Amino acid sequence: MTALDPTLQQALAARLRFYRDLGLTDFYRRPIDPALLESIRSAEPETSRAPSNPAVSSPDWVGDHDPQFNTQETEIPPRKPIAAPPAVAPAATDPAAALRLIREEIGDCTRCTLHKGRNKLVFGDGSPTARLMFVGEGPGADEDAQGLPFVGKAGQLLNNMISAMGLKREEVYIANIVKCRPPQNRTPEPDEANTCSPFLFQQIDAIRPEVIVALGATAATYLLGQRQPLAGLRGRVHTWRGSKLIVTYHPAFLLRDPRQKKEAWADLQIAMRELGLKAPARSS
Ligand code: URA
Repeated sequence: MTALDPTLQQALAARLRFYRDLGLTDFYRRPIDPALLESIRSAEPETSRAPSNPAVSSPDWVGDHDPQFNTQETEIPPRKPIAAPPAVAPAATDPAAALRLIREEIGDCTRCTLHKGRNKLVFGDGSPTARLMFVGEGPGADEDAQGLPFVGKAGQLLNNMISAMGLKREEVYIANIVKCRPPQNRTPEPDEANTCSPFLFQQIDAIRPEVIVALGATAATYLLGQRQPLAGLRGRVHTWRGSKLIVTYHPAFLLRDPRQKKEAWADLQIAMRELGLKAPARSS
């Protein structure tokens, strides 16, 4: 990559700071060359970088950074209508049986065009009685191959996030807005998300988790039924279908922009507080 002119570097760093101060930290629609991003960041004075809470120690995954990881940005869903979620169903007496029924109802789904490129439908995974549920956007290549959510690189980071909360992956439930992989991992189209998400809502009604963590803008948009920048939704507890809902960054975004991991950890701590969980002591 050709080096950027230092004045331009400083101007770009100032612009990035400006956006960040507005709370806009996830506005890239296309992958950015990590070397370019790093060169812009290195022009930014150390003191202006994202604040962290010194009172809260960060788990190991907050410091991880894989500079090679760069997937398509999926943080801004397209500007088309979002369907209103259906009414909340009565509590299931047997959540595992209720989940099996929902899976049966979905069947070998051809309700939207995403089925055409599907290898395996990714229904969801985890405990039917989970107190905590994570909702992502849609399966990627690894998930499509295995039929399980979050089993690729983003999934490894999600696993680290879950264990930093003092939980095991088997104790939570993980699902996505859409159950079939969008081509080239693009953001699901509103008609795809609106067709598929009612099944997710049924899964949520069956599990009745105390807390739901929406991973990224697509999950937040289709769960809350409103389109708002992530910055306006993070950092607080929403009430949704009888659960508390917390919005944070998508792990794939965190792999591209690890500086936001501290912010994500702060969001997860809100979830932990709501669940009455304490972070496990870190081994040195
Ligand atoms: N990204 C998602 O949103 N969901 C997955 O299951 C995997 C990656």
